[in-house]
Amino acid sequence: MEYFIFIIAAYLIGAIPSGLIVGKVGYGIDIREHGSGNLGGTNTFRVLGLKAGLLVTGSDILKGTLATVLPVLLGAEVIPLIVGIFAVIGHMYPIFAGFKGGKAVATSGGVVLGVNPLVFMIVLATFFLLLYLTKYVSLSSMATGIFAVILTIFLGEFGLTIVITILTLFVIYRHRTNIKRIINKTEPKITWM
Ligand code: G3P
Repeated sequence: MEYFIFIIAAYLIGAIPSGLIVGKVGYGIDIREHGSGNLGGTNTFRVLGLKAGLLVTGSDILKGTLATVLPVLLGAEVIPLIVGIFAVIGHMYPIFAGFKGGKAVATSGGVVLGVNPLVFMIVLATFFLLLYLTKYVSLSSMATGIFAVILTIFLGEFGLTIVITILTLFVIYRHRTNIKRIINKTEPKITWM
């Protein structure tokens, strides 16, 4: 029963459509109708600029962190990492936004942050290094997920390895159109780094 409650709570937290709220309330637009059409931080940066992008990325990270930290704070006997997976599912398929959500990156990061801040910091630094080298957010996101799987194997954090593998598969699945664009050389590169 505890699992059921926290899984539903995690899904609902993950399903809060930060990008849609910031776009509609702050700027009067649905970001899913602009840029890549994705309801995530990267597309918010692209369409609405730095302030909105940071706000959406931060909120999306927080959703994953909150979902994993909440059961710990409430003393529930559930494994936070398992609960966290459902926050990411909520982020990808939000009931509050017609099940059309983001690509799992920031909220997955938030889940890792909630469970192991050190691994999160290493993974975040790796993401920015890959972004600096490739200039592709999408490619850096997918490669960072794969790196995180390898990292946690070396650290002996096998629970994290299993869950990050699942989250990385989500990330890759949700980047199908980006993968096609990278192959066709039509994926946009960042210009600010
Ligand atoms: O976090 C999503 C990012 O990796 C790609 O987003 O908008 O370029 O498809 P986008």
